[in-house]
Amino acid sequence: MAQAPAPKPWIDAIHAYVPGKSAGDDGRPLVKLSANENPLGSSPMALAARAAAQAPSLYPDGDSTALREAIGRLHGIDPALIVMGTGSGELLHTATGAFAGPGDEVLYSQYAFSLYEIVARRCGAVPVEAPARDYGNDVDALLGAVNERTRVVLLANPNNPTGTYLPRAEIARLHAGLPADVLLVLDQAYAEYVDPRRDDGSLALAVRHANVLVTRTFSKAYGLAGERVGWGTGSAAIVAVLNRIRGAFNVSNSAQATALAALQDQHFVEQSRLHNAAERNRFVAAIGALNNHGLRAVPSEANFVLVLFEGGLTGETAYRGLAERGYIVRWLPGQGLASGLRITIGQRADMDAIAAALREMAEAA
Ligand SMILES: Cc1ncc(COP(=O)(O)O)c(C=O)c1O
Repeated sequence: MAQAPAPKPWIDAIHAYVPGKSAGDDGRPLVKLSANENPLGSSPMALAARAAAQAPSLYPDGDSTALREAIGRLHGIDPALIVMGTGSGELLHTATGAFAGPGDEVLYSQYAFSLYEIVARRCGAVPVEAPARDYGNDVDALLGAVNERTRVVLLANPNNPTGTYLPRAEIARLHAGLPADVLLVLDQAYAEYVDPRRDDGSLALAVRHANVLVTRTFSKAYGLAGERVGWGTGSAAIVAVLNRIRGAFNVSNSAQATALAALQDQHFVEQSRLHNAAERNRFVAAIGALNNHGLRAVPSEANFVLVLFEGGLTGETAYRGLAERGYIVRWLPGQGLASGLRITIGQRADMDAIAAALREMAEAA
């Protein structure tokens, strides 16, 4: 007789998600630029609402009604077509698990968000990676990897960890090339950081087609990563499926109240976007000035930049050197990016200090 319950083999194959670190190997607290959190914190209105939220002894509204209505008003979406998640991560899991299972394939790009492999494996599906182009999603490569076993395609735009962005025409071309029975999940975790004039058309696609789910989060530009609130929108049929299998009371009292107030403070979101764009531009220019030392920044539309180290200074040495100077960023050898550091755009003084430290290390290498 077996000694203990055995997890399914596909569960055994999962390596746990690795979150961004907040301390050095020696336990010293560091400035955390490893998890794409908002350096401006949270909206004061959101913090006030959090403090005044309904008592924790009571169950929350299991349908997050007021929050869905407010999201619907802001984005011009019927609230009945919005489903809430404990972060958008929960929705990526529920959507993939609802439409794919053992024997099926879940497709995404090389250098995609690391959660995608976990999401695919958790439901027993086979994760399939299409080659990236210039560190970003390549529509031709993705379409070329589709076959009769493909059930779900996951694509983040902007992409994490590379920051790359596909324009509206490319997202439309990807959708048009997919069979109608393949679910296209457009993960817009960083959408609020994109200049609104460059909107990729995902929400409009989700309204018009039966095989598109868009996911969004309050974790990034809304500054509420700790409250765990995300949402998705798609056809009535997709939303009904997700509502049947998501956690019954998945969004807590305080999370609903905090996100609702955050939504009403669009000034904070706008400030977050403008701060990010300005500091990202300055940082990318500083990296550009180090091109002769082999450093370059992958073009980013997100709240982080992937810096590649192709000269004397390696990604690993730069990672350790920044940690010695008090900054923790993300080094991603496990994702095939040993020569790159993903650096969250933080406050101005921190970005200046990081740029200066990289210059010093590159010149010394
Ligand atoms: C591309 C992408 N999608 C989804 C998420 C999930 O975020 P959350 O579950 O906090 O909404 C993240 C978080 O890092 C992300 O980078």
